[in-house]
Amino acid sequence: MARYAYVNGRYVDHRTASVHIEDRGYQLADGVYEVVGVREGRLIDEQPHIDRLDRSLRELRIAWPVSRATLGFVIRELMRRNRLTDGLVYIQVTRGVARRDHAFPTKPVKPALVLTTKNAKRAEAEPGPGVAVKSHPDIRWERCDIKTVALLPNVLAKQAARESGAYEAWLVDGQGRVTEGASTNAWIVTQDNELVTRQSDNGILAGITRGTLKSLAKDLQLKIVERPFTLAEAKQAKEAFVTSATSFVLPVVKIDGETVGDGNVGPTARRLREEYVRFASAGEQVT
Ligand code: PDD
Repeated sequence: MARYAYVNGRYVDHRTASVHIEDRGYQLADGVYEVVGVREGRLIDEQPHIDRLDRSLRELRIAWPVSRATLGFVIRELMRRNRLTDGLVYIQVTRGVARRDHAFPTKPVKPALVLTTKNAKRAEAEPGPGVAVKSHPDIRWERCDIKTVALLPNVLAKQAARESGAYEAWLVDGQGRVTEGASTNAWIVTQDNELVTRQSDNGILAGITRGTLKSLAKDLQLKIVERPFTLAEAKQAKEAFVTSATSFVLPVVKIDGETVGDGNVGPTARRLREEYVRFASAGEQVT
Protein backbone atom coordinates (compact mmCIF):
# COMPACT_ATOMS: atom_id res chain seq x y z
CA MET A 1 0.00 0.00 0.00
CA ALA A 2 1.32 3.43 -0.90
CA ARG A 3 1.76 5.86 1.93
CA TYR A 4 0.05 9.18 1.34
CA ALA A 5 0.97 12.73 2.13
CA TYR A 6 -1.44 15.65 1.90
CA VAL A 7 -0.04 18.56 -0.10
CA ASN A 8 -2.14 21.66 -0.77
CA GLY A 9 -5.45 19.95 -1.32
CA ARG A 10 -4.27 16.61 -2.72
CA TYR A 11 -3.46 13.21 -1.29
CA VAL A 12 -0.28 12.19 -3.08
CA ASP A 13 2.28 9.40 -2.93
CA HIS A 14 4.55 10.21 -0.01
CA ARG A 15 7.68 9.13 -1.92
CA THR A 16 7.25 11.72 -4.64
CA ALA A 17 5.31 14.44 -2.77
CA SER A 18 6.86 17.87 -3.26
CA VAL A 19 6.40 21.58 -2.83
CA HIS A 20 7.65 24.44 -4.95
CA ILE A 21 11.33 25.45 -4.61
CA GLU A 22 10.23 28.97 -3.71
CA ASP A 23 8.04 27.89 -0.84
CA ARG A 24 8.94 30.33 1.94
CA GLY A 25 9.20 27.49 4.41
CA TYR A 26 11.98 25.97 2.34
CA GLN A 27 13.87 29.21 1.72
CA LEU A 28 13.23 31.21 4.88
CA ALA A 29 11.82 28.81 7.49
CA ASP A 30 8.75 31.04 7.30
CA GLY A 31 6.27 28.54 8.66
CA VAL A 32 4.87 26.69 11.63
CA TYR A 33 4.05 23.09 12.47
CA GLU A 34 2.37 20.73 14.88
CA VAL A 35 2.95 17.12 15.85
CA VAL A 36 -0.10 15.27 17.14
CA GLY A 37 0.54 11.91 18.76
CA VAL A 38 -1.55 8.87 17.83
CA ARG A 39 -1.96 5.79 20.00
CA GLU A 40 -4.14 2.79 19.19
CA GLY A 41 -5.78 4.77 16.40
CA ARG A 42 -6.64 7.65 18.72
CA LEU A 43 -5.57 11.26 18.34
CA ILE A 44 -4.03 12.60 21.54
CA ASP A 45 -5.03 16.12 22.56
CA GLU A 46 -6.00 17.11 19.03
CA GLN A 47 -7.83 20.32 19.94
CA PRO A 48 -5.04 21.82 22.11
CA HIS A 49 -2.60 21.14 19.27
CA ILE A 50 -4.89 22.86 16.76
CA ASP A 51 -5.34 25.77 19.18
CA ARG A 52 -1.57 26.12 19.42
CA LEU A 53 -1.29 26.00 15.63
CA ASP A 54 -3.82 28.82 15.50
CA ARG A 55 -1.72 30.83 17.95
CA SER A 56 1.53 30.21 16.03
CA LEU A 57 -0.16 31.30 12.78
CA ARG A 58 -1.54 34.45 14.39
CA GLU A 59 1.84 35.36 15.91
CA LEU A 60 3.41 35.18 12.43
CA ARG A 61 0.41 36.69 10.62
CA ILE A 62 -0.04 33.64 8.39
CA ALA A 63 -3.66 32.96 7.42
CA TRP A 64 -5.29 29.58 7.97
CA PRO A 65 -4.83 27.62 4.71
CA VAL A 66 -8.16 25.77 5.19
CA SER A 67 -10.86 25.91 7.83
CA ARG A 68 -10.34 24.17 11.15
CA ALA A 69 -13.10 21.72 10.22
CA THR A 70 -11.35 20.88 6.96
CA LEU A 71 -8.05 20.34 8.74
CA GLY A 72 -9.79 17.95 11.14
CA PHE A 73 -11.16 16.05 8.18
CA VAL A 74 -7.78 15.90 6.41
CA ILE A 75 -6.06 14.60 9.55
CA ARG A 76 -8.59 11.75 9.79
CA GLU A 77 -8.58 10.96 6.09
CA LEU A 78 -4.78 10.73 6.02
CA MET A 79 -4.77 8.50 9.10
CA ARG A 80 -7.29 6.19 7.42
CA ARG A 81 -5.48 6.09 4.09
CA ASN A 82 -2.19 5.34 5.85
CA ARG A 83 -3.80 2.96 8.35
CA LEU A 84 -2.03 4.83 11.08
CA THR A 85 -2.61 3.28 14.49
CA ASP A 86 0.50 4.38 16.41
CA GLY A 87 2.82 7.25 15.67
CA LEU A 88 2.13 10.83 14.76
CA VAL A 89 0.48 13.25 12.38
CA TYR A 90 2.74 16.09 11.21
CA ILE A 91 1.04 19.32 10.11
CA GLN A 92 2.97 22.17 8.50
CA VAL A 93 1.79 25.56 7.29
CA THR A 94 4.12 27.96 5.52
CA ARG A 95 3.43 31.46 4.25
CA GLY A 96 3.34 30.08 0.73
CA VAL A 97 5.19 30.37 -2.56
CA ALA A 98 6.56 33.73 -3.67
CA ARG A 99 9.59 35.26 -5.35
CA ARG A 100 12.29 35.30 -2.70
CA ASP A 101 12.25 38.38 -0.49
CA HIS A 102 12.61 38.58 3.28
CA ALA A 103 9.54 40.79 3.67
CA PHE A 104 6.06 39.25 3.35
CA PRO A 105 4.83 38.91 -0.25
CA THR A 106 3.03 42.08 -1.31
CA LYS A 107 0.54 40.18 -3.46
CA PRO A 108 -1.63 37.79 -1.46
CA VAL A 109 -0.35 34.20 -1.59
CA LYS A 110 -2.09 31.11 -0.35
CA PRO A 111 -0.42 29.54 2.68
CA ALA A 112 0.87 26.06 1.96
CA LEU A 113 -0.46 23.11 3.96
CA VAL A 114 1.36 19.79 4.17
CA LEU A 115 0.47 16.78 6.31
CA THR A 116 2.37 13.54 6.73
CA THR A 117 2.08 10.62 9.12
CA LYS A 118 4.78 8.55 10.75
CA ASN A 119 4.39 5.08 12.23
CA ALA A 120 6.02 4.21 15.52
CA LYS A 121 6.04 1.34 17.93
CA ARG A 122 3.08 1.55 20.32
CA ALA A 123 4.00 3.60 23.35
CA GLU A 124 3.34 1.55 26.45
CA ALA A 125 2.82 2.43 30.09
CA GLU A 126 6.06 0.64 30.99
CA PRO A 127 8.75 3.35 30.67
CA GLY A 128 11.77 1.16 29.87
CA PRO A 129 15.18 1.93 31.40
CA GLY A 130 15.12 5.72 30.90
CA VAL A 131 17.38 7.87 28.75
CA ALA A 132 20.48 10.04 29.05
CA VAL A 133 20.47 13.76 28.27
CA LYS A 134 23.33 16.08 27.44
CA SER A 135 23.40 19.79 28.18
CA HIS A 136 23.91 22.26 25.37
CA PRO A 137 23.85 26.08 25.29
CA ASP A 138 20.44 27.46 24.37
CA ILE A 139 21.30 29.69 21.43
CA ARG A 140 17.74 30.10 20.11
CA TRP A 141 15.80 33.32 19.53
CA GLU A 142 13.47 34.98 22.03
CA ARG A 143 10.21 33.60 20.65
CA CYS A 144 10.56 29.92 21.46
CA ASP A 145 6.85 29.96 22.35
CA ILE A 146 6.07 29.89 18.61
CA LYS A 147 6.27 26.42 17.06
CA THR A 148 8.15 27.42 13.91
CA VAL A 149 9.97 25.15 11.49
CA ALA A 150 13.13 27.21 12.14
CA LEU A 151 14.78 24.48 14.21
CA LEU A 152 18.48 24.74 13.43
CA PRO A 153 19.67 25.32 17.03
CA ASN A 154 17.49 22.39 18.11
CA VAL A 155 18.89 20.23 15.31
CA LEU A 156 22.50 21.01 16.27
CA ALA A 157 21.86 20.42 19.98
CA LYS A 158 20.11 17.11 19.31
CA GLN A 159 22.93 15.98 17.03
CA ALA A 160 25.56 16.86 19.66
CA ALA A 161 23.57 14.85 22.19
CA ARG A 162 23.29 11.85 19.89
CA GLU A 163 27.01 11.97 19.07
CA SER A 164 27.75 11.80 22.80
CA GLY A 165 25.46 8.79 23.19
CA ALA A 166 22.60 10.74 24.80
CA TYR A 167 19.01 10.65 23.59
CA GLU A 168 18.05 14.27 24.15
CA ALA A 169 19.76 17.65 24.59
CA TRP A 170 18.85 19.88 27.50
CA LEU A 171 19.18 23.50 26.51
CA VAL A 172 20.80 25.73 29.12
CA ASP A 173 20.50 29.54 29.22
CA GLY A 174 23.18 32.07 30.20
CA GLN A 175 22.37 31.65 33.91
CA GLY A 176 22.88 27.88 33.91
CA ARG A 177 19.14 27.21 33.87
CA VAL A 178 17.57 24.44 31.82
CA THR A 179 14.96 25.90 29.50
CA GLU A 180 13.72 22.74 27.79
CA GLY A 181 14.88 19.86 25.61
CA ALA A 182 15.66 20.15 21.91
CA SER A 183 12.21 18.68 21.18
CA THR A 184 10.75 18.07 24.64
CA ASN A 185 9.89 19.89 27.87
CA ALA A 186 12.10 19.21 30.89
CA TRP A 187 10.98 18.28 34.42
CA ILE A 188 12.59 17.29 37.71
CA VAL A 189 11.34 15.89 41.01
CA THR A 190 13.22 17.61 43.85
CA GLN A 191 14.36 16.00 47.09
CA ASP A 192 11.24 17.64 48.66
CA ASN A 193 9.06 15.79 46.13
CA GLU A 194 8.14 18.92 44.24
CA LEU A 195 7.49 18.52 40.55
CA VAL A 196 9.37 21.36 38.86
CA THR A 197 9.14 22.51 35.26
CA ARG A 198 10.00 25.89 33.81
CA GLN A 199 7.11 28.37 33.54
CA SER A 200 5.84 28.75 29.99
CA ASP A 201 6.96 32.11 28.66
CA ASN A 202 8.74 33.13 25.47
CA GLY A 203 11.76 31.02 26.47
CA ILE A 204 10.09 27.65 25.86
CA LEU A 205 7.39 25.99 23.86
CA ALA A 206 4.29 25.49 25.99
CA GLY A 207 4.10 21.75 25.38
CA ILE A 208 0.65 20.24 25.03
CA THR A 209 1.89 17.12 26.83
CA ARG A 210 3.28 19.39 29.55
CA GLY A 211 -0.13 21.03 29.95
CA THR A 212 -1.99 17.74 30.15
CA LEU A 213 0.55 16.29 32.55
CA LYS A 214 0.13 19.29 34.85
CA SER A 215 -3.55 18.49 35.27
CA LEU A 216 -2.91 14.76 35.66
CA ALA A 217 -0.30 15.52 38.33
CA LYS A 218 -2.76 17.80 40.14
CA ASP A 219 -5.31 14.98 40.18
CA LEU A 220 -2.65 12.84 41.88
CA GLN A 221 -2.18 15.61 44.50
CA LEU A 222 1.40 16.18 43.41
CA LYS A 223 2.88 19.58 44.13
CA ILE A 224 3.81 21.36 40.89
CA VAL A 225 6.10 24.38 40.87
CA GLU A 226 6.63 26.27 37.62
CA ARG A 227 10.02 27.95 37.84
CA PRO A 228 13.42 27.70 36.21
CA PHE A 229 15.81 25.06 37.55
CA THR A 230 19.54 24.88 37.00
CA LEU A 231 21.49 22.04 35.52
CA ALA A 232 23.22 21.60 38.92
CA GLU A 233 19.83 21.28 40.62
CA ALA A 234 18.69 18.74 38.05
CA LYS A 235 21.76 16.59 38.71
CA GLN A 236 20.87 16.57 42.43
CA ALA A 237 17.20 15.82 41.80
CA LYS A 238 15.43 12.61 42.81
CA GLU A 239 14.06 12.14 39.34
CA ALA A 240 14.01 13.82 35.97
CA PHE A 241 11.96 13.29 32.84
CA VAL A 242 10.94 14.86 29.55
CA THR A 243 7.55 15.19 27.87
CA SER A 244 6.39 15.53 24.28
CA ALA A 245 3.70 14.36 21.90
CA THR A 246 5.95 11.54 20.72
CA SER A 247 7.86 10.58 23.87
CA PHE A 248 4.90 10.97 26.29
CA VAL A 249 6.61 10.93 29.72
CA LEU A 250 10.16 9.67 29.30
CA PRO A 251 12.36 9.23 32.39
CA VAL A 252 15.86 10.74 32.36
CA VAL A 253 18.39 8.70 34.34
CA LYS A 254 21.62 10.44 33.33
CA ILE A 255 22.56 14.08 32.83
CA ASP A 256 25.98 14.78 31.28
CA GLY A 257 27.11 11.33 32.35
CA GLU A 258 26.01 11.83 35.99
CA THR A 259 23.39 9.52 37.41
CA VAL A 260 20.07 11.02 38.52
CA GLY A 261 18.95 9.54 41.86
CA ASP A 262 19.97 5.89 41.96
CA GLY A 263 20.06 5.68 38.18
CA ASN A 264 16.76 3.82 37.93
CA VAL A 265 13.40 5.07 36.74
CA GLY A 266 11.71 6.69 39.74
CA PRO A 267 8.15 6.19 41.03
CA THR A 268 6.86 9.64 40.04
CA ALA A 269 7.87 9.44 36.38
CA ARG A 270 6.60 5.86 36.25
CA ARG A 271 3.23 6.84 37.71
CA LEU A 272 2.85 9.91 35.51
CA ARG A 273 3.62 7.90 32.39
CA GLU A 274 0.97 5.36 33.38
CA GLU A 275 -1.56 8.15 33.87
CA TYR A 276 -0.63 9.75 30.57
CA VAL A 277 -1.03 6.48 28.65
CA ARG A 278 -4.43 6.04 30.30
CA PHE A 279 -5.35 9.56 29.21
CA ALA A 280 -4.11 8.85 25.65
CA SER A 281 -6.36 5.79 25.47
CA ALA A 282 -9.41 7.97 26.01
CA GLY A 283 -9.05 10.07 22.83
CA GLU A 284 -11.30 9.80 19.80
CA GLN A 285 -10.79 6.54 17.90
CA VAL A 286 -10.10 7.26 14.22
CA THR A 287 -8.50 4.12 12.82
N1 PDD B 1 8.39 18.66 19.62
N2 PDD B 1 9.74 21.84 23.29
C1 PDD B 1 10.13 21.80 22.00
C2 PDD B 1 11.26 22.67 21.56
C3 PDD B 1 9.47 20.93 21.11
O1 PDD B 1 9.86 20.88 19.82
C4 PDD B 1 8.42 20.11 21.59
C5 PDD B 1 7.67 19.17 20.68
C6 PDD B 1 8.06 20.20 22.95
C7 PDD B 1 6.94 19.37 23.52
O2 PDD B 1 5.69 19.84 23.07
P1 PDD B 1 4.45 18.88 22.91
O3 PDD B 1 4.21 18.27 24.25
O4 PDD B 1 3.34 19.78 22.50
O5 PDD B 1 4.81 17.85 21.88
C8 PDD B 1 8.73 21.09 23.75
C9 PDD B 1 7.72 17.86 18.63
C10 PDD B 1 7.22 16.57 19.16
C11 PDD B 1 8.63 17.71 17.42
O6 PDD B 1 9.23 18.71 17.05
O7 PDD B 1 8.73 16.62 16.85
